[in-house]
Amino acid sequence: MNNIFLLKKIKDRINFLRKEIIKHDYFYYNENNPKISDKEYDDFVKELKNLEAENPNFNLYDSPSHKVSGSLSSNFRHIKHFSNMLSLDNTYSYTEIMEWHKKISKKIFNKNIEFIIEPKIDGLSANLIYVDGTLISGSTRGDGLIGEDVTENIKTIKSIPYKLATDSFSNFFELRGEVYINKKNFKELNNNIIKHGHKKFVNSRNAASGSLRQKNKNITASRKLDFFVHSIGFSENNNIINQFDFLQLCKKHGFKIQEDFKICSSLKEIYEYVNIIFNKRDFFVYEIDGLVIKVNDFKLQNEIGCTNKSPRWAIAFKFPAKQATTIIKKIEVHVGRTGRITPLAILEPVFVSGVTISNATLHNFDEIKRLNINEGDTVLIERAGDVIPKIVKVIKKKKKNFFNVPHFCPSCNSIILKETIDKVTYRCINYRCKEQFKNRLIHFASRDSMDIFGFGEVVIDQLLERNKIKLISDIYSLTFNDFIELNLFGKKKTNNILKSILFSKKKPLNRLLFALGIKHLGKEKSKIIAKKFKNIKALINATSSDFIKIPEIGNKLCTSLKMFFESKYNLNIINYLIKFGVNIEESVLQIDNGFFKNKTFVFTGKLLNYKRKQIYEIIESFGGIISEYINNRVDYIIVGSNPGFKLSKAKIFNIEIIDEKKLESILIS
Ligand code: IVH
Repeated sequence: MNNIFLLKKIKDRINFLRKEIIKHDYFYYNENNPKISDKEYDDFVKELKNLEAENPNFNLYDSPSHKVSGSLSSNFRHIKHFSNMLSLDNTYSYTEIMEWHKKISKKIFNKNIEFIIEPKIDGLSANLIYVDGTLISGSTRGDGLIGEDVTENIKTIKSIPYKLATDSFSNFFELRGEVYINKKNFKELNNNIIKHGHKKFVNSRNAASGSLRQKNKNITASRKLDFFVHSIGFSENNNIINQFDFLQLCKKHGFKIQEDFKICSSLKEIYEYVNIIFNKRDFFVYEIDGLVIKVNDFKLQNEIGCTNKSPRWAIAFKFPAKQATTIIKKIEVHVGRTGRITPLAILEPVFVSGVTISNATLHNFDEIKRLNINEGDTVLIERAGDVIPKIVKVIKKKKKNFFNVPHFCPSCNSIILKETIDKVTYRCINYRCKEQFKNRLIHFASRDSMDIFGFGEVVIDQLLERNKIKLISDIYSLTFNDFIELNLFGKKKTNNILKSILFSKKKPLNRLLFALGIKHLGKEKSKIIAKKFKNIKALINATSSDFIKIPEIGNKLCTSLKMFFESKYNLNIINYLIKFGVNIEESVLQIDNGFFKNKTFVFTGKLLNYKRKQIYEIIESFGGIISEYINNRVDYIIVGSNPGFKLSKAKIFNIEIIDEKKLESILIS
């Protein structure tokens, strides 16, 4: 490409990036309402910095890449900081940490550097000035030189001491830290806000920022803000040597510090700690978005110095973003096992905190309305913990019209109705709907129900296609050939599934009740009901007043149970289940062969065909006892492949040995 054209392209891109950064700074700092994720913002800054470094002619002094981002609202008086409040350089990879480490080691001629790593709190920074041990002002970071005067609001935060507990370490100093709101209080705050018809905060950082920057300090006081000290600004003579001592001193003076810090002296230790905290991230009671790696020694920090935007002696390692923007390709509706219709957003695939996301849950149609989303919209999505991502908000709308709830079931074309009780749930009212049936089968076989190992969606889909299952009870009439014909797996797995189906017959009644997928009946209530009624026949004969007598059964569940056990379709299934030998009693002891009752079993080695937990449950349901230790009270040792020392110990005690084959034959007999 012609050089001039290339330069023009670069200049345009630089201008575009500068405008975007300034625009998003405004949304983030002034409106507490970011429109893109942190990672997307950081990528803009990184790209701009690179382009400016490669093209010094375009590197203007007032570029946003040289300035500390922030805002100064005219709602507050302004306060000049005694020393500038800088920002931190962000990194997202170990390679970048390694490069930073190399750079500073070079700068101070490879002295053995000690680092201190602290979690990076996702809040907003505040500057506190103490004179003679009394808090005289509190301000936001603002543009780094001047902040907003939020002293009165700061004074409402309980974890910020107004007067220091002991003689302060200096007569005049600035303390810096993060104002934040913990996860529990953030949730409560948002629930409250929605109740009052206001728009909720997108994340806890925005909630903290919006709550601190209130004109009315009583509102701030009601928001349960918190504060962690993390650095020192200007300070008249003090003898503090390093960050570690500084934190301990702050603690002594009554401040809260993060206890999850670590002193490290090698890159390896740094990586290890970053990993540890990353894995613990969701267990923190407050949000953290990364770690800050700092040179511990204050003298060395001075030697290494700062740019006008950030210190060179510290760096932030940001965790992979939990948020990202993407486009909703389609809104699909799914039919659950109880006919419940739930919407699902199919997304343009996007990379979020280490995984590619291609769909997001929408709990119900009210949520679609609340978020005002439709197909084609650009949205901000967020992953919290391991849960499926959710849509936080719309960033750009494509269509003006609303997404409409479908009138007919996408699977069976029956009518979809809104529940009259909760007025939120929509259901396909056809109990024989194919999709409902498929999901009932998946639920029946699932781990907490009948626990049929290997009998998942793929297998079920194919069996349904071949018309092998018409009623749930047909699971128990499936043959070896039915599975082999699917060409999904070989003999061994087929045998395992068949065995697992066989074992499932011995599950206690509470499992069967839960597996049947009765509306409003969860695991715990299944246990209560099974314990009270003991046998499924008693449930069939029960009247509404028998049900309602049980405190845990409310009107909704009572109606649902009654309807279920009155339906001819369901009674037919129950009859088949009984015919196939499925246990219908809560106590299964009477139907076992007596072998296990009151006998103690120890396991050693790996079982080839079963999960240990599965066998433990069966043995216990037959009245057997599972033990970890070999002693003279043990009756049998079950031996798998590669047995451990327990086997030799068992031989000394003359304990009878049972291998997997023999165990199988006893179980099936
Ligand atoms: S040390 C440059 N330590 O992150 C000032 N900052 O993105 C040195 N932050 O403005 C700050 N947790 O408000 C430090 N443990 C921590 C922190 C932390 C959160 C904030 C701080 C800073 C921002 C930079």
